[in-house]
Amino acid sequence: MKDNMILIGFMGAGKTSIGTCWGKRKKRRLLDTDRLIEQEAGMSIPEIFKEQGEERFRQIESRVLEKLYEEADHMVISVGGGLPLREENRAILARLGTVVFLRIKPETVLKRLAGDTTRPLLQAENKSEKAQQLLKIRNPIYEQAAHLVIDVDDKTPEQIITELESVLRKRTAERMEETE
Ligand code: S3P
Repeated sequence: MKDNMILIGFMGAGKTSIGTCWGKRKKRRLLDTDRLIEQEAGMSIPEIFKEQGEERFRQIESRVLEKLYEEADHMVISVGGGLPLREENRAILARLGTVVFLRIKPETVLKRLAGDTTRPLLQAENKSEKAQQLLKIRNPIYEQAAHLVIDVDDKTPEQIITELESVLRKRTAERMEETE
């Protein structure tokens, strides 16, 4: 397994902001799959969804992940909320490094993303219903894909980083015991 830390979870869970803080603290570069997709496509995520559709977006997303697997090590990687849904993507994530699921409740998503226009999947008439629907389907998949889970509701970024530090330390210790 490679030595990356990968953050997965629903839109608004703080994958990129926690990844940025963690990267600064650990002097590790942050890669964000959404930004890599935008570079590859030469357009923004809402534009890709509007002009080429979600399926095309998912194809680019899987291709970006395959490339990342070839190239990335010792990095922090923040992945789009839908990336773990494809089984082939989950298989790559498992080998790419330690996968941490930032778990968020629907009400926190709505609070954080109330005025957001950059997530095509949440531009529904009833945002709350949509977020609940998606989370119901996705949470078991995120749990399955993750080595570690952190609940982010009502926590500051500092609290999440401290918790992350502690669960990662524990996991490293457990893995060392296993190999002894
Ligand atoms: C998506 C999440 C977005 C982005 C795209 C689709 C999803 O990323 O990849 O809008 O399916 O959950 P963030 O989770 O970084 O918002």
